[in-house]
Amino acid sequence: MELRIDRQALVPVVQQIVDGLTEWIRQGDVAPATRLPSVRQIARCNLLSQSCVAEACERLVAQGLLAARPGSGFMVAPGVSVRCAGAAYAVGAPGQAEGLMLGCGVLPESWREPDDLSYAIRQVARTDMAGLFNYGTPLGLPALREQIVKRLKGLDIQVGDGQVLTTAGASQGLDLIVRTLFKAGDCVLVESPGYAPLFDLLRLQGVRMLEVRRLPDGPDTEALETLIRSLRPKALFINSHHQNPTGSSLAPAVARRVLQLCTTHGVRLIEDDVYADLHHGRGVRLAAQGEGQGVIYVGSFSKTLSSSLRVGFVAADADTIAQLARVKTVSSLGGSGFCEAVLASLLASGAYRKLVQRQRQRLSTDRTTALEMLEEADWEVFGKPAGGLFIWARPTRDDQARVRERARGCGVTLAAADAFSPSGECSDWQRINVAYACDPRARRFFQGVAADRPRVF
Ligand SMILES: Cc1ncc(COP(=O)(O)O)c(C=O)c1O
Repeated sequence: MELRIDRQALVPVVQQIVDGLTEWIRQGDVAPATRLPSVRQIARCNLLSQSCVAEACERLVAQGLLAARPGSGFMVAPGVSVRCAGAAYAVGAPGQAEGLMLGCGVLPESWREPDDLSYAIRQVARTDMAGLFNYGTPLGLPALREQIVKRLKGLDIQVGDGQVLTTAGASQGLDLIVRTLFKAGDCVLVESPGYAPLFDLLRLQGVRMLEVRRLPDGPDTEALETLIRSLRPKALFINSHHQNPTGSSLAPAVARRVLQLCTTHGVRLIEDDVYADLHHGRGVRLAAQGEGQGVIYVGSFSKTLSSSLRVGFVAADADTIAQLARVKTVSSLGGSGFCEAVLASLLASGAYRKLVQRQRQRLSTDRTTALEMLEEADWEVFGKPAGGLFIWARPTRDDQARVRERARGCGVTLAAADAFSPSGECSDWQRINVAYACDPRARRFFQGVAADRPRVF
C-alpha cells in the first residue's frame, strides 16, 4: 500500500497517513472487515515510523472508519458503509480528502469572493441586533423573503409573501419536504443518476424510490409515463437546470410533457433548482409554467455565495409552506436571522447579482476548455451543458479501474463510482466539476488517459 507521503508538505505526516488510508479505503471501495496490512508493513513500505502509522490508525478508529483487532492490527470497521461514512458527499467538501476534487459539487475556495460578503457581515453585525441574538420567525426573515420573491419573478415564478420559506440550505428544504409530505411505504420518482443525499433522506424516511433515467434533455418521459401509470408514485423529484450530476437541463417539450403527466395523474412535482444562478438566461422551469401552480420549488445560495452560510428556500402554495414551516419550527426553532440578513443585504445591494455574473462568465470559459480537453482525450460527453458546474463524461477506451488508477497517480480525486445511483449501481461516467477541470493535475489526468491508450493506425 503506497501512501505517497510528501515530507515537504505543510500537512503533518500523521494527517497525511490518515488521509492516505482513508483514500485507499474509499477509492478502492474496500469492503467492511477487510484486514489492513500490518502497521510494520505500512511503515516499511512508505519509509515511515511505526509510531506515526499506529497513531494514524488510532485516529481512524476514533473516526469509526477502522476497528482495532486485539492483538492483530486493524481492519475496516465492520458495518461501515464507506459511502454513507461520507465518500459520496466528501467529494463535495474540499479539504476532507486529498488531491484535486475533480468530481466535487462546489466551487473551489479560490473562486469564492470574500469582499462583498465580509462587508455585508460587518454591516449586519453593526446594525441588526435582533439578527445577532434572537430566534428567527417561522417563515424566515421578511427582508430576505421579499428579495427571493423578486428574484423568482425574474424567473417567471409568481409567488406571494406567504409562499416562501427560508431554510438552512436546500438540504433542509428537501428534508422538510420529505418528512412532511411522505410516510414510510410511499413511493416517489427520482432521477438516475441523481443527487445522492436526497436518496439517503428518502431512505431514512422509508420512502421507496422509483428510478427514472435522466436523458440529456430531461427525464425519460416514456419511462416516466409507464411508472406513473403502473405504480402511482406520489411525487417526482427533479433538477431542472444543470442537473446534478449530468449538468443537463430540461428542454421545453420535455418540461411540458413532465408537467402534463404529473398534473394528470396527481404526482407532486418537487423542482430542486440549486444551480439556477449558474444558468445564462431564464431557462425552462416547471414552477414557471401555467400548470406549475402545485410545483414545490427549492433554491439555495450555497453554490454561488457560500455553502457555509446555509441559506436556501422553498417556494410553494401557502398551505404547503405553512405545513413545512410548522415542521421547521419543531425541528429547529427557526433559521439563522443573521445569515439571512447578510443574504438579504447582498441581494438588495446588487452585489449578489454581479457575483453570479462573474461566476457564470468564468465557468463558461473553463467549460469550453474542459469540453475541448475531453474531446481531445476521446471522452464521451453526455449532452454539452451550456451552464452550471458539471460535465458528465466517460472515457471510451479505458476501463474504470485504469481511469481511477490514473487519477490517483495525477493527484486527482474522482467521485465514487456508485455515488449517483439510487440503487448503488456503479457507473463509468464521471461527474467533472468545470471549475477544477483546467487545473494542471486535471489536464495531466485527461491527457494521460489519452496518451496511454493503444494507438490504432
Ligand atoms: C441537486 C442538489 N440539491 C440540493 C443540494 C444541497 O444544497 P445546500 O448546500 O443548499 O443544502 C445540492 C448540493 O450539492 C445539490 O446538488
